[in-house]
Parts: sequence; C-alpha cells; structure tokens
Amino acid sequence: MMENIRVPSRSSASEFRATAEAGANIALTKYWGNADPDLRIPANDSISITLDRVRTVTTVTFRPDLPEDQVTVDGKPLRGPAWERVSRHLDLLRDRAGVSWRARVVSRNNFPAGAGIAASASGFAALTLAAAAALGLELSPRDLSLLARRGSGSAARSIFGGFVLLHTGARDEDAFAEPLHSPDWWDVRDLIAVVSQAEKAVPSSEGHHLAPTSALHQARVARVAELNRQLLQALAHRDFAALGQAAEEDALLMHAVMMTSRPSLLYWLPETLAVMHRVQAWRREGIEAYFTIDAGPNVHVLTLPPYADHLQVSLRALPGVQNVIPCRPGPEARITPNSAE
Ligand code: DP6
Repeated sequence: MMENIRVPSRSSASEFRATAEAGANIALTKYWGNADPDLRIPANDSISITLDRVRTVTTVTFRPDLPEDQVTVDGKPLRGPAWERVSRHLDLLRDRAGVSWRARVVSRNNFPAGAGIAASASGFAALTLAAAAALGLELSPRDLSLLARRGSGSAARSIFGGFVLLHTGARDEDAFAEPLHSPDWWDVRDLIAVVSQAEKAVPSSEGHHLAPTSALHQARVARVAELNRQLLQALAHRDFAALGQAAEEDALLMHAVMMTSRPSLLYWLPETLAVMHRVQAWRREGIEAYFTIDAGPNVHVLTLPPYADHLQVSLRALPGVQNVIPCRPGPEARITPNSAE
C-alpha cells in the first residue's frame, strides 16, 4: 500500500520542483456520465487495471518569476481549453498549499499521442502527484486520488497500481479510488489493438455530459452496480470468465449509451467491429479472450498468459490493426528522480 507522500526535497528556495510517473488504466466497468459535472463525481463506481506499458512522466516546477503556467506535452505547448484545464488543476493544488507561484509543466507519454490511448488518466495522476510533491503538500493516497479526479475522473484510479475501484459519492470527499489487489495478484493481460490513431472527434469530457440524454443511461447505471459486485468476486477468486463477461457487457452498455445520446456518439469503426467479432469467435474456439473499448475505436483484448503471445500475433495479422501494445497490471503512481525535461 502506498504511503503518504513525504515533503520533498525542494530544489531551492527560488523553485519548487518534483517529477512523478503514472500508468494509464483500462476500465473493466466504465466511468461514463457524472453525478456532479463540476466536481467530476462519476455517476457510478468503476473498476480498472492500471497498466504497466503506457505511462506518463511529468515534471512540475513552481517559480516566482513565471507570469503564467507553461505546459508542454510530448514537446508541444498546450494552449486554449487544454491549457486552462491543467492550469485550473494546478490552482486547486496551489490553493491547498497557499502558494501563488505559476508552474512550468513538462509531460511525456511513452506511447504515441495519437495511439488512441487516453493520456488524461496517467497525465492527471502524474501531474497531481508531481505538483503536490513540489508544493510540499503531505497528502494521503486517498486525498491524491480525490484531487486527481478533479482533473480527470479516470486519473483518480491511476494513482494506484494493480486492480482499482473508484467510488462515486454524494460529496467530493466520498468519490475516491482505492486499490483492490496489487499488480502481482493476477497476471491479466490487456492487448491494445490500435485500429486508428486519429484524435477522437468528441473527447470523454464532452461525452460525459451527453450520457444523461440517452434513454439507456439510468438502466446502465443500475446494471453496473450488479456488474461491479460480480467483478469484485471475479477478482477475489481469479475467475477470468466472470471478469471478461462483466467487462465486455459494460463496454457494450457504455457504447449503447453513447450511440443513443443526443447527439449520438459512434466511436466504432469497421475495424473495431472486426476485432470484436474475432474475439467472440476465438472464445467459441476455446480461447479465453474478451474485449473492452473506451471512448474511441481501439479495442482492448483481455486475456491470460497462455494465450497472450499467440493472440498478439493473430491480432497484428487482422486487416486494419495497425499495432498491438501488450500490457500487464502495473504499479501505482510514484515520485521519480528522472526529470521529463
Ligand atoms: C470511456 O476520465 O477520460 O475511458 O474526467 O473528462 O477526463 P474526464 O473523463 P475520462 O473518462 C473516462 C472514460 C472512459 C471510461 C473509463 O476510463 O472509466
């Protein structure tokens, strides 16, 4: 279990600086729709696996001489709403610390920006931890998770490693993530089949607002409570069929909500469907594989070690699959000495 972060070695009296790294995560049950959009309190609990291979490293440096926050992601300066989102998040942390200095933020993803893997979870988890450490805030992992959630809902889960539950709640302080099992509890594999590298037309943040416009949203929220109970059992007993069935069902439920929103969100491409059909066909052939899909066209194929190498090769051979990124459960967010600059 992660300990409270310690007051860091502030680099000097004229600059507060720290670097953190965090993994992206794949939700088995999804966060889709908010109970409170301003506070980013999710409509339902969600369960995820933090991933080892898709990570973000972020260095935050607060300085008295900066006129405004400067944010660079993968070498490109952020502007407009994306910059504002980061700056507002830093304000939350500055308010806590009673510090007004602006910051330089340098963030690097070890996966291509256009790979269709959401960088907001790993990005806001690493940003929250690095900024908190730089400011000398001594926060519990729960508080870090709460704060990360304000930046991006799924980032609350990336504070922890392994298998993670994000609670919804009536109040800000009730909606935090907690670790269920460590990464070495169960070697579940996530083979990310990349079928498109295009930036998605409608980002998750906008999609969450549309969820209540679907007639299916409330039905999904009710069903996810049952799926979460099944998942908790599946994880405790390492029952892969139960895990896969619950994950696949909620991915389909979430996309049904998306498709029936006003306006409709249709993230699937023909290649997405081809992979989905293939995964279900493999299952009929006795291969333990299930799919889940986030707010985009790429397909996460969940499987177990005996099938992973073979499936990776087979997925790569499917028409339309550009790349496969094989992931395992990965560690919690942590402070690192390796600067992103
Ligand atoms: C489909 O956490 O990306 O990946 O809070 O606006 O950043 P923001 O949304 P985000 O939403 C996640 C959507 C999802 C499902 C999930 O990861 O739970």
